[in-house]
Amino acid sequence: MASQSVRDYLSSHGINDEPSESNENASSVRSPKDSKKNAIPRILSVANQKGGVGKTTTAVNLATALCAIGKRVLLVDLDPQGNAGTGLGVRRAGLRVTTYDVIFEGADAVSAAQQTKVPKLDVLPSSIHLSGAEIELVSADRREFRLQSALRVPMPYDYVIIDCPPSLSLLTLNALVASDSIVVPLQCEFYALEGLSHLVKTIERVRKGFNPRLDIHGVVLTMFDKRNNLSAMVADDVREHFGDKVYKTIIPRNVRLSEAPSFGLPAIIYDMRCPGAKAYINLAKEVLKREKELIGKRQQLNQDDNTHSDFSEEAV
Ligand SMILES: Nc1ncnc2c1ncn2[C@@H]1O[C@H](COP(=O)(O)OP(=O)(O)OP(=O)(O)O)[C@@H](O)[C@H]1O
Ligand SMILES: [Mg+2]
Repeated sequence: MASQSVRDYLSSHGINDEPSESNENASSVRSPKDSKKNAIPRILSVANQKGGVGKTTTAVNLATALCAIGKRVLLVDLDPQGNAGTGLGVRRAGLRVTTYDVIFEGADAVSAAQQTKVPKLDVLPSSIHLSGAEIELVSADRREFRLQSALRVPMPYDYVIIDCPPSLSLLTLNALVASDSIVVPLQCEFYALEGLSHLVKTIERVRKGFNPRLDIHGVVLTMFDKRNNLSAMVADDVREHFGDKVYKTIIPRNVRLSEAPSFGLPAIIYDMRCPGAKAYINLAKEVLKREKELIGKRQQLNQDDNTHSDFSEEAV
């Protein structure tokens, strides 16, 4: 999508595309909950057990960019830190129903979702109670499937994006069991690939034991600094390791991306012309292109197997 059409999208929803402190004037923002069309959404987890690699920044801005392209998206904040929710302007004080209640109390995810200032984007906020979830999950019934039961149901969303915590804990395991695919952000730094074998092994384990549909959707290089040779070397290394799985789009290091959350806005709304926002719009386009290819492959497999699939073509 050309940036002009993103501007049209924002202005048609009453959102100013100049860098701003509030953007409170998003008058015609609509929640997907207003829509009556329900289907099982495509579920993508943004996961990497390494801390600070850009998971939340990617989840928030990818979700926003998908909305700008016309998709209805639910962003699920699965991290007790709650950065995805606060980055979208959701105040934690006073929240009655959160991801915790959806996982442990059987609360309905759609009812619990909060409308954001971004048209077509809702967020299921997390709560600090999630920090005790690991211990509670150990003895819980169907402990790996709690999120799957809550999210793999007909919803008024095309996509669910899950922002995972920085660990390979039972919470992340729940996200992987619920997901169709994983987006892995990798920071362009010396230790980028370190620990990634654990993530790949975990994905294998989940695929064999709990969720055969799971695969890596793609690896996204984040915080790329073009003035730094190391960034380019790391990017080459990662491409050698993961080949075509690495998205062509690279997310540059861009201060606008780190400023935006403090205004409760995705960078795409805070400053749609900054290089970081443009990169996330390109990433969303690439994600949707891959989705089409995945559908083609899945349909081929289904024809070969003559088996039924719940893969929703309407999401793409
Ligand atoms: N491309 C970027 N350019 C500049 N700053 C960035 C970029 N991406 C992320 N940041 C900043 O880096 C920090 C870590 O990013 P983020 O919170 O997205 O990582 P994370 O993987 O979700 O972290 P955690 O593991 O703690 O959940 C944040 O302060 C964020 O604003
Ligand atoms: Mg995070």
